[in-house]
Amino acid sequence: MAEFVVTFHPNAVSSRVAEGTTIHEAAAAAGLPLRAPCGGQGRCGKCAVQAGVGVDSATAVETRLFGEEELAAGWRLACQARVIGDAEINVPSASLLIEHRIQIEGVAREVLVEPAVTKIPLRLPRPSRDDASADLNRVMQALGGGVRPPRAIATLRQLPGLLRASNYEVTAVVSDGVLASLEAGDTTEACYGAAVDIGTTTVVVYLCHLPSGEVVGVSSGLNPQARYGEDVISRLQMAISEQKGLTKLSGAVRKLIDDLIGQAASDAGVARESIYEVVVVGNTTMCHLFLEVSPIGLAAVPFAPSFSSAQTVGAEELGLRIDREGRVYVVPNIGGFVGADTVGVIISSELEDSRGLRVAVDIGTNGEIVVAENGELYACSTAAGPAFEGARISQGMRAAAGAIDEVTIDHDVFCHVLGDVPAVGLCGSGLVDAIAEMVKVGLIDETGRLRKPEETGSLPEKVRQRLVQNDKSLEFVLAGAEESGAGKVAVSARDVRELQLAKGAIYAGIGLLLDKLGRKVADIEKLLLAGAFGNYIRRESAVRIGLVPALPAERIESIGNAAGAGARLALCSVALRRKAEEVARRTRHVELSEEEGFYSRFADAMALRPMADTAVD
Ligand code: FES
Repeated sequence: MAEFVVTFHPNAVSSRVAEGTTIHEAAAAAGLPLRAPCGGQGRCGKCAVQAGVGVDSATAVETRLFGEEELAAGWRLACQARVIGDAEINVPSASLLIEHRIQIEGVAREVLVEPAVTKIPLRLPRPSRDDASADLNRVMQALGGGVRPPRAIATLRQLPGLLRASNYEVTAVVSDGVLASLEAGDTTEACYGAAVDIGTTTVVVYLCHLPSGEVVGVSSGLNPQARYGEDVISRLQMAISEQKGLTKLSGAVRKLIDDLIGQAASDAGVARESIYEVVVVGNTTMCHLFLEVSPIGLAAVPFAPSFSSAQTVGAEELGLRIDREGRVYVVPNIGGFVGADTVGVIISSELEDSRGLRVAVDIGTNGEIVVAENGELYACSTAAGPAFEGARISQGMRAAAGAIDEVTIDHDVFCHVLGDVPAVGLCGSGLVDAIAEMVKVGLIDETGRLRKPEETGSLPEKVRQRLVQNDKSLEFVLAGAEESGAGKVAVSARDVRELQLAKGAIYAGIGLLLDKLGRKVADIEKLLLAGAFGNYIRRESAVRIGLVPALPAERIESIGNAAGAGARLALCSVALRRKAEEVARRTRHVELSEEEGFYSRFADAMALRPMADTAVD
């Protein structure tokens, strides 16, 4: 088959690919991954690029999506356009899958450091005429009764040579009460583990010193599965319906985790062989994909996962290069769409022991909600995140360079843009801010209707001029092409509706879970906002549009990456690991769509106003 060179601008990187390869695949081969929120199905339009010669003709989906002028200017969807000759492609920054703001802090409760892996230094008596006991017996006796003999034959095989070469001074690595391996000399301080938070969008690795529980290194990267689809649903579909789809998705995230562990270790001056355990949290789908277990049951009602209990697997089997006997522990899931990451949020913010009424909302690519009081726990998940991560917003993007993340409307519109670059889109916190400010000045009414220019006579002229009718609908321009130096960035009537759907689902979810405890919004003692979004969102804006309940400021707290903090706790404390298992069993999973009254509550919660209590109270 013929091969052609595809060059991507402005980066001037290229790849050589076979005829018929999509531009999306060619870009990935050139090390320039592009966005694919819809999984490359030609529905989202987020992978738009400009192509000249060397690509096939526009498909029917592209002719529907682009106008005549755009098609004439060479606009194509990278997931649809195929290479038929040497090609030059222009990639707008909004189509790039780029690094963005990632939450790597996070709270952590105080715990007794008591990891599953410990190291015990041993000085053993040499064999003598009086004591000719076996090498293994010698080791086991020195370890005392609490440690069980090794399971792996490799440990036994290393024993005779190691004891003699190290002068009978060795360190025993004990994992969950079993002798896992022996090392020459005293290596007790070189004992590390990695806690991993697999987010749908980002993956964070915390390298921890196990004897002290201290974090010695952090690394993070974009989940490479995003190139196959930005949301959970498109990845589920790929895993189930595409041949080798599951293997590809699993391999991609495992390779990233292995790289991130290597990066954190080399930054901290730690050898990979001194890492003995990896603890993983993620939503239920991410846990399935990581372990390469088919998530087939999650694709349709009743959303039954293939497993929900904790899993322990050899690190080598998963391609993670740590100690030869190293293991991976995957924290248990609660249900189909409430996963180990939510268990992490619960244990790191001590919700399971909470006396007063606490609510945690983790807004990532999905929105998970937990309510807790006096040991009772309820959790649910809403498909709220994509709007906040830009997936269904016309100029939405993640919090990367070029994203408007703060908006103020006064006599004109003032935007803050991330990075030292022109505005190219709007991230979640910017969207919430923009809509809250538009509500404040009366550009949008409570029902979410964008007012027509003739209804906004009382507004400053500069603000009014930003309301424009484009060929499809009314939109409000935050940054015009001349202001941004790039393209125009605007909020459309449809974007307002998308935000209403997302925030309505979150608010209705909170209300329904509170119902389970017979409580109201006003009873909430602490509202905990987890995840990157929870940290960056302006609270006044979130309250103004009813994304979070209108509680006094001191009752709302941002808790950072609480899921990752939970993974660290499960790594450094066996007691917390057992607690995580108990929490996963004990938390009652509520499937919102099956709850009576959900849809009417959802419809009410779409109103853009401060919400002091849930709709039916
Ligand atoms: S349209 Fe190409 S990835 Fe969605």
